[in-house]
Amino acid sequence: MHLIGLRDMAAADIRAILDDAERFLDDRGEVTTPPDEKQRLQGKTLALLFMEPSTRTRVSFEIAARRLGGSTVTVGAEGSSLVKGESAADTCRTLAAMGVDGFVVRHHDRQLPHVLVDRLDTPIINAGNGSGEHPTQGLLDALTLRRNFGLKGDLSGLKVAIMGDIVHSRVARSDAHAFAALGAEVRLVGPRRLLPSEDRLEDWPATVSNSRKEALKWADAVVVLRIQQERMHGQLVDPHQYALDWGIDTTVVDRYLKPETVILHPGPVIRGVELSDPVVDSDRSLILKQVTHGVAVRQAVLCRYVGS
Ligand code: NCD
Repeated sequence: MHLIGLRDMAAADIRAILDDAERFLDDRGEVTTPPDEKQRLQGKTLALLFMEPSTRTRVSFEIAARRLGGSTVTVGAEGSSLVKGESAADTCRTLAAMGVDGFVVRHHDRQLPHVLVDRLDTPIINAGNGSGEHPTQGLLDALTLRRNFGLKGDLSGLKVAIMGDIVHSRVARSDAHAFAALGAEVRLVGPRRLLPSEDRLEDWPATVSNSRKEALKWADAVVVLRIQQERMHGQLVDPHQYALDWGIDTTVVDRYLKPETVILHPGPVIRGVELSDPVVDSDRSLILKQVTHGVAVRQAVLCRYVGS
């Protein structure tokens, strides 16, 4: 079994993974591993193939694997045979021949996870394929919303704005599919050039807006995204202007947000651009809770896809 995206995942499966992830959080909401899961990956080796920069996703998978008794090997672009011209698929086949039991893969090529699924029998977990999907982020964000609003099964009735650089964001795509599958209303918000074009909207289970004010007044939760300049090939966004037009600072919060509206961000946050310092560190911010929930979700995912 592979985890490539949430687009085609049934709501029941998404809910089941979130329910499993709850078992990896204690009464205070901190990461735990029940005694019967501590050996779940005993004797198994997970290869973390990270060909794009990552801190939290990579370390989170590593911690999750170790908490389940598994071991990890990390392969980055630097210092691997990829710099000699080997294809990522051949690197994975080589590692599989060494007895690796599962792959966690991040790569700029959107097709790579599908190529790997065709060419390998080993479980593949997508940790970000270009601007494609980032399924474990979608799951951990859904879990964060579900827990914050005290919802048991799904996210019915919740209004979620995803704001910023939607068009380059794999997080936006996985979030939108997860939230919509669980019954939330999703609205994509940002400057026109960073929103999906009209003819692409059918890919998105969401409405679109380019009014910061209207979206923030409407939302129960706002997922704020980084401007992904590295995917813009030339036409960059001016961070100062973006902060003025689209950033969320305390004035914007006070003016538009309902008292109970929360702010999420997958990280890395560029302080002073999409969110101001005090907003990042405010009680409305669930950013560190997302990180904690990430370890729980990844333990649940590894049990399900690699553990049995
Ligand atoms: C994101 C990513 O790499 O897709 N970060 C993450 O995994 N938590 C978002 C980003 O890079 O802005």
